[in-house]
Amino acid sequence: MRKPIIAGNWKLNKTVGESVSFTEELKTSICTMDENSLPEVVIAPVFTALVSVSEILSCDCIKLAAQNCYWEASGAFTGEVSVDILKDLGCSYIIIGHSERRQYFSETDEMINKKAKAILAADIIPIICCGETLEQREEGLTDSHIASQIKAALEGISKEDIARSVIAYEPIWAIGTGKTCDSIEANRVIKMIRNVVEEVSGKASADAIRILYGGSVKPSTIEEQMTQSDIDGALVGGASLKVSDFAGIIEGCIKAQTVCEA
Ligand code: 13P
Repeated sequence: MRKPIIAGNWKLNKTVGESVSFTEELKTSICTMDENSLPEVVIAPVFTALVSVSEILSCDCIKLAAQNCYWEASGAFTGEVSVDILKDLGCSYIIIGHSERRQYFSETDEMINKKAKAILAADIIPIICCGETLEQREEGLTDSHIASQIKAALEGISKEDIARSVIAYEPIWAIGTGKTCDSIEANRVIKMIRNVVEEVSGKASADAIRILYGGSVKPSTIEEQMTQSDIDGALVGGASLKVSDFAGIIEGCIKAQTVCEA
């Protein structure tokens, strides 16, 4: 059984103070939920809020993620933050290869692969993002584009490390648009990603790796998404910025698990 993950990517939002109050409120809200059926809950604040948020995450029920990292450990790399520094702050996950980083900061598959290797070497978990543009989808290139992103990201990584990694399928046309990808289609693409993982790393890695869906996930969409066979959770943008919405998504994930187990 793969443990579901509900991860909130705050992107460039919230001051340190706002991040801390959000986290306190989220902790209170999660305390009312059934501990045994909680998914792994992950939040990814901006770099500057990581220290303060980490200090108040006394419980194990919320994990901390960074939104990016650099692959070198130290040196003359102005403006970058290394994996070890993020680990020292308490990050257990690092999001890499988000389409916004690929689009606005020219990140390539090769850079994403270097980041994945550095993260896994530090014994933390990369959340590797992939996804197609609307144009690629309309031209029938969705599967080939995503397969090539995944193969490049996982190049040279051991089976054991692939098994403990996380992939997030985020169709670019669904990000921040309110247009959620149909759950059956999201599940189909995620299954295809699992097949690619099997091809490059074997069945054990493919069975173990968690693959999330991201793109306009809301409390009203999560239950249907989480009842699909291959969707192991969600990477949430806009709806992770309000405690009531994010808690609603976590609750929906719990409900869906109950439905699946029944
Ligand atoms: P939205 O949930 O706002 O569509 O963002 C998704 C996303 O990019 C998460 O990484």
